[in-house]
Amino acid sequence: MLIEWSDELSVGIQEIDEQHKVLVGLVNEMHDAIHARHGSEVSSEILQRLAEYTKIHFAVEESLFRIFDYPGYEEHKAQHDELIREIIELQEKIAAGKTNISFQLLHFLKMWLTQHILDSDKEYSPYLLKSGLKAKSSQAGWFHKLWH
Ligand SMILES: [Fe+2]
Repeated sequence: MLIEWSDELSVGIQEIDEQHKVLVGLVNEMHDAIHARHGSEVSSEILQRLAEYTKIHFAVEESLFRIFDYPGYEEHKAQHDELIREIIELQEKIAAGKTNISFQLLHFLKMWLTQHILDSDKEYSPYLLKSGLKAKSSQAGWFHKLWH
């Protein structure tokens, strides 16, 4: 496993944690696929799912920022746009044969995901919780189930 989920990665909002776990799961899935020497088609397909799910997840976060009038909205959204741009660029490079899915690329994806959670996502949760967002919800697993 490339990324081990731990409390350190938790933002303290169950629904968001569930979504982050899906992202972590996809990066780990790609890691396993490379280890098992599944072809590049399998890795590209996982990368595609990672890109799609990331867009959905970022849209959810940005929607929460607007609902709760988060002052860091613009800055955080700019980071999301950059992260999406990076993953699309990666997909284009792979499609053009300019790079392949390697352990080096996985290291990039690991940092791409964990640094964003640790540095930026953890910043918004105290604000959202203070503004009335519930940390736990009985329906929090719904999004996770939908994806699996
Ligand atoms: Fe984020």
